[in-house]
Amino acid sequence: MLKGKTAIVTGGSRGIGRAIVWKLASLGADIAVIYAGNREAAENVCHGCRQEYGVEARAYVCDVAGFSVVKETVGKIKADFGTAHILVNNAGITQDGLVAMMKEEDFDRVLDTNLKGAFHMIRHCTPLFLRNREGCVINIASVAGIMGNAGQCNYSASKAGLIGLTKSVARELASKGIRCNAVAPGFIATDMTGDQTDNPLLKMIPLGKMGEPEDVAEAVAYLATARYVTGEVLRVDGGMAM
Ligand code: NAI
Repeated sequence: MLKGKTAIVTGGSRGIGRAIVWKLASLGADIAVIYAGNREAAENVCHGCRQEYGVEARAYVCDVAGFSVVKETVGKIKADFGTAHILVNNAGITQDGLVAMMKEEDFDRVLDTNLKGAFHMIRHCTPLFLRNREGCVINIASVAGIMGNAGQCNYSASKAGLIGLTKSVARELASKGIRCNAVAPGFIATDMTGDQTDNPLLKMIPLGKMGEPEDVAEAVAYLATARYVTGEVLRVDGGMAM
């Protein structure tokens, strides 16, 4: 389904990003994994994709919060793969705290990674998409960006910003054959969430349990292969934010 397409996935070495990489590779896409620091994990994911699905897969170290380093990295991906067709902005961090006590640097760091990081990637991939007259951007937002979440004013603001970014880019680039959508996961079992067995938030989920990274990857695969969907925010949250 995605044979001949190249997908860039940020934060693709673990958690939700890794599940997205596997899913897109299973559909035949060649993969560029962007990772922040864990080279071994990133190389392992790429090795697995090559072995299992016979696709091309390479890892690139890059802090998405830096405008120029993202430009350089997209340049390397272009040199290696020729171009790119799909961009999944999955890299994200939390630095939780009450608003009355939050340090400026904790607010900035979360915004710089989660929101500006996505902007940097879109900014530098768009010229490739324009040249191809096709492109697909999928931003991994969060239900926190829709509902808000106490103790996460920085994270919620970054994810709400990502939803605004998604809709503006969708409107701006639709006529060029470029779609832009967001996925808003709820509570997904990864390193970011840790052990949540006794978390009272679980009671707020109509489907009664946490999601798996693969549930988010399914939604990404749908948006990557859809033709007539742009500017959408697809919740994958067991009904939590409806
Ligand atoms: P994770 O912490 O397991 O993975 C995040 C990935 O992003 C890691 O590979 C990390 O190295 C990478 N990353 C972080 N900062 C980076 C930077 N500056 N440059 C490049 N890469 C960077 O987290 P998880 O749970 O897999 O989350 C993935 C995405 O899904 C994040 O955007 C997160 O906000 C979002 N999300 C997760 C939810 C959950 O319940 N786990 C719920 C809603 C959204």
